Amino acid sequence: MPLLYDSTTKTFTIHTDHTTYQMRVDEYGYLVHLYYGARTEGQMGYVVTYADRSGMCASPHDASDRTYSLDVLPQEYPFQGGGDMRNTLLVVRDANGTFGCDLRYDRHEIRDGKYALKGLPAVYSESADDDARSLSITLADKRLGLEVELLYGVLPKIDIITRAAIIRNAGPAKVVVKRAQTACLDMVHGSFDVITFNGRHAMERRPSRCAVTPGSFSVGSRRGMSSNQYNPLMIMCDRDATETSGRAWSMSFVYSGSFLAEVEKDQYEQVRMQMGLSDEQFSYPLEPGEELIAPEVIMTFSNAGIEKISHNLHRCIRKHVCRGPWRDRPRPILINSWEAHYFDFDGDSLARLAGKAAELGIDMLVMDDGWFANRYDDMRSLGDWTVNEQKLGGPLSQLVDYVNAMGVKFGIWVEPEMVSEDSNLYRAHPDWALAIPGKDPVLGRDQLVLDMSRADVRDNIFNQLCAVFDSANIEYVKWDYNRSIVDVYSRCASDQGKVLYDYILGLYDLLERLIQRYPDMLFEGCSAGGGRFDAGMLYYTPQIWTSDNTDAHDRMTIQYGTSFGYPCSAMGAHVSASPNEINGRDVPLTTRGVVAMAGGGFGYELDLMELPERACELIKGQIKMYREIDPLVREGLYYRLSSPKKDRVCSWEFAAEDGSEAIVCAVVLEVEGYGVANYVVPRGLTRGALYREATSGNVYPADALMDVGVPLPVGSAPYMTRVYHFVRLDDAD
Ligand code: DGJ
Repeated sequence: MPLLYDSTTKTFTIHTDHTTYQMRVDEYGYLVHLYYGARTEGQMGYVVTYADRSGMCASPHDASDRTYSLDVLPQEYPFQGGGDMRNTLLVVRDANGTFGCDLRYDRHEIRDGKYALKGLPAVYSESADDDARSLSITLADKRLGLEVELLYGVLPKIDIITRAAIIRNAGPAKVVVKRAQTACLDMVHGSFDVITFNGRHAMERRPSRCAVTPGSFSVGSRRGMSSNQYNPLMIMCDRDATETSGRAWSMSFVYSGSFLAEVEKDQYEQVRMQMGLSDEQFSYPLEPGEELIAPEVIMTFSNAGIEKISHNLHRCIRKHVCRGPWRDRPRPILINSWEAHYFDFDGDSLARLAGKAAELGIDMLVMDDGWFANRYDDMRSLGDWTVNEQKLGGPLSQLVDYVNAMGVKFGIWVEPEMVSEDSNLYRAHPDWALAIPGKDPVLGRDQLVLDMSRADVRDNIFNQLCAVFDSANIEYVKWDYNRSIVDVYSRCASDQGKVLYDYILGLYDLLERLIQRYPDMLFEGCSAGGGRFDAGMLYYTPQIWTSDNTDAHDRMTIQYGTSFGYPCSAMGAHVSASPNEINGRDVPLTTRGVVAMAGGGFGYELDLMELPERACELIKGQIKMYREIDPLVREGLYYRLSSPKKDRVCSWEFAAEDGSEAIVCAVVLEVEGYGVANYVVPRGLTRGALYREATSGNVYPADALMDVGVPLPVGSAPYMTRVYHFVRLDDAD
């Protein structure tokens, strides 16, 4: 049974196949965290220490006992006002402007299935076989009439526990929520590292690992988007944990806006890890009867290293976050017009591109930015979603039909949350843009952000998009978002502190309406490359453009970092021209292909018409190979065999869950004078079995492969690339 309540000790225990999570309501009604680690039975109340810590720690009034202090106790939902002076999850202000609350256990309920969250993305379970359960524990502040419903979801078979919180004003007067984080994990001792995923536009999600030291370490976003700079994924692990050994815990935020993830080592060397909404520019008033949902955090634990954290998250995101028919289908191989033509295209050049794509075996042409209104550059026209028929040489349907007739599907780019000052939409509705009255709005890429918290704005954009999508056989939409929110002011908000959160709810509402209306449409998320690569967006768009940096060398680092929290099936990855437009690096086409094939959203993004015959032949071969390996890329277990930053060779692997086959890829990054042989060492094979490598026909014992590995040719040149396809031999072979 994944969820248990022991009424004698008031202990809640959550079991997954390999982990156990435990908490207890103590004698004062506080919810104390006891354990999150390897699966175990029993009562872990013994881990908590009570001692008189010099009388300096605050004790609740009814605990006339100096050994009891919330400033020391490991907790499930620490709040400001109870004496816990560490980072808390909740800060509220009452109608008199006073800060402080006191949350104690009120009631709980255990339910079958996985809870859902109104208006927000959340992990889901669609089969009773998942054995999913939900636990709701309501904490209450009787003075304020404030309730916090803590939600725990459990997917036992994939070792996933989720958390969310509903903050409800059940009292008679308004309260203002100043901070509403979702989850924390209190560790009573330990020497840990924290791993975060940081970067910038065109260099996202590079892992950064550092020791947890006294004080507070945080990453987050105040940009109104999860951001290119810091990803809402945090891993904490033993200092000596590796890919395959040691304990690790992770939190992944199912939310696409501003966030905060923190780790604090306190005065007693205890550690608190937490995640949730950013409290910057946040102030959420709740009138009596109103509630606020702190979005979901996905948690998992591994005592077999960081790789297992990734595997758990991949399984969860692939089957319990991503939705729709494209969740499980091979995705179309794309040719995207952006790096092929930027704004400089017309109907004829797109038709030619599609014709060449057909010849090469590419499935779909994506018409990127530049197809609408006066969008000849990035200074104008966002918000006016009308086809530029002059540029395309006729109605969109004419182009799409022509492309379809060549056997190529058609996709389109949009950036629906934005408006250009030079647009009819802005001229008609200047108040629809987020802008502070009397202050010149800050521009980003010469554009403003539409106020998605407003239903009328969303309706307008919805109707405009539907008119385009209905006008032709469009089968894919790339949903872009190219700037941060700076000016937070909505004409319609009762409190400007609500706007950033309500914006994201509005975005989700718009996306939900569109995916309901176009259930077969493949949506790909994008935000100046990978600026909104988060589990929230993946609930609506099963793949996301990983980065605007398409250089294969940099992409190895970006995809390596992304893989810690997100499955390959979610990564859009294209082969682009060399030397690369962003960094001028020259990488062979074979290497570019193999690197891009590590994304479930594989494609091309270069002018196919310019390619020499030899390159066309190589591309045909890549497409054939991709179709063969696609099931393993999307559904297999992904192994980071070596690091693109620390090792001479970057290697990675996709293996069938049952170990029956594996694709192992290696790219030589660094070469030295004569001699040293580099080995690629796969994992996840069946011990004791033999494997045949499909291209060479060589047969290898699995144990030797996983111990010594296979040598790459000595004296390999930079970017020498190898792909090994190991197939397990059955007894009959
Ligand atoms: C940013 C995206 O990341 C690119 O792929 C491209 O779609 C441009 N926007 C278009 O403006």
